[in-house]
Amino acid sequence: MEQYLEFTGIGKAYPGVQALRDISFRCDGGEVLALLGENGAGKSTLLKILSGDTRPDEGGIIIDGRPQQFSAPYDAIKAGVSVIYQERQLVPAMSVMENIFLGEQPKTSLGTIDKKALRQSTQDIIDKFGLPIRPDELAGRLSVAYQQMVEIMKAYRRNSKIIAFDEPTAPLADAEIAILFDLIRRLKEEGRIVLYVSHRLSEIFRITDKIAVLKDGRFVKYLTTSRTNEQELIQAMVGRDIGDTYANLRRNDKLGDVLLEVCNLETEYLRDVSFTLRRGEVLGLAGLVGAGRTEVARAIFGADAILGGEIRFEGEAIDFSEPKDAIEAGIALCPEDRKDQGLVLWRSIRENITMPVLGRIRKGLFLDRAAEEHLAEEAIAKYAIRTPSINKIVRELSGGNQQKVILGRWTNSKMTTKLLILDEPTKGIDVGTKAEVYQMICDFAGEGFGVIFISSELTEVINVSDRIIVMRNGRVTGDVTRREATEESVLALAMTD
Ligand SMILES: Nc1ncnc2c1ncn2[C@@H]1O[C@H](COP(=O)(O)OP(=O)(O)OP(=O)(O)O)[C@@H](O)[C@H]1O
Ligand SMILES: [Mg+2]
Repeated sequence: MEQYLEFTGIGKAYPGVQALRDISFRCDGGEVLALLGENGAGKSTLLKILSGDTRPDEGGIIIDGRPQQFSAPYDAIKAGVSVIYQERQLVPAMSVMENIFLGEQPKTSLGTIDKKALRQSTQDIIDKFGLPIRPDELAGRLSVAYQQMVEIMKAYRRNSKIIAFDEPTAPLADAEIAILFDLIRRLKEEGRIVLYVSHRLSEIFRITDKIAVLKDGRFVKYLTTSRTNEQELIQAMVGRDIGDTYANLRRNDKLGDVLLEVCNLETEYLRDVSFTLRRGEVLGLAGLVGAGRTEVARAIFGADAILGGEIRFEGEAIDFSEPKDAIEAGIALCPEDRKDQGLVLWRSIRENITMPVLGRIRKGLFLDRAAEEHLAEEAIAKYAIRTPSINKIVRELSGGNQQKVILGRWTNSKMTTKLLILDEPTKGIDVGTKAEVYQMICDFAGEGFGVIFISSELTEVINVSDRIIVMRNGRVTGDVTRREATEESVLALAMTD
């Protein structure tokens, strides 16, 4: 039987935003369909409707010709839909096999759980995908990448014919992405329908067959991957030609004196890390996930203990006992994980942006509300944050717009920052805004800041930074200029000692 999924006239409004309007398109079995669009375009909302988490105001979903009514996630699962979100949904205290068979564990004739059958059935699925995971392992102990694979196996066990992924590669290293893509190819060969959301265009070209482009909640275009190119995609998403991002960057070429010196730094994770950063310089930290780049940032920021060596900032040795002191000294860290370390999700955009500078925007005893609102408006304009108001709760923003709020916080004009550390600042950000973030990084350097730019996307870290430090296993394996760096050479340094 022909397998297909159809969205017909889907509409969904949230207070102040029409998240989706009249979305109609179709996706066939044996194909991977990309959902592409700028931050806030409505991709995640559409997947939430598909998974039964959210109900549409209008329109519906048709699977294999049959109209569906999902009132809850359970209905969608029953209809053969699994949606894999970026936030993991496994039960951490349960084993891999219990998670995969949650709610449907095989029973013995006595009515108890048949552990042996459970273990064997799980092992069969693991073997089918050739993964190094044990059925008895606790899900919470697995790396993010393996947890994601357990979710895929769970979808497979349920025999879901529609499997959707929302930015699945964001937390993954290159080797893990290769495994994920193998799994996706396998699902496709079996005739399943795969939906794939990602901002990384290179992945769209590697793994998808068709592309549906959304813009401002509307359906814009349906394309065949093999018959389109990056320029056409960007134009469809952004509505304008953004040209050659890197060639158009206005860079700073005036370097100042040394701002930061890291000398033979040792922490629990780092070994003998040394480099220097000048005022006006953009220093890239490249490497695979887990190479130790975030640990360097944390040590400078006073979040991790320094066990050996020295960090000198403006000529003086520093060893902050807490991040508050680092911020006071003029160091800002824009952390990688927007959920855990960056944002207070239940607070407004305004509160999140002004959090570190509240002491500086007082009028006598009280907060200067006008100044606070001004800072928030400034960030919304600068980063094109898509929101009806500065008072919107951050939890209700799309993923990419949450990321922009963090950038807005650390770069607002009341900050007295001299060193800006950006850890994966473009994670989950759309192509149009990415180009703006790159230009801002160069502008910060132009204003005399030192900038440390951490990124797992080789292309951007190599093309935006003036100099690139490559790390692997807690050590520095390379220190090259932008002119010297190629993707191949940096990757080789990142992968071999
Ligand atoms: N629970 C919610 N409450 C209010 N507004 C919401 C909610 N969820 C999403 N929105 C709004 O709906 C719009 C679409 O958001 P959605 O998360 O679908 O975007 P997206 O395409 O996934 O973007 P991104 O690439 O940034 O993840 C946004 O304007 C967002 O602020
Ligand atoms: Mg999203």
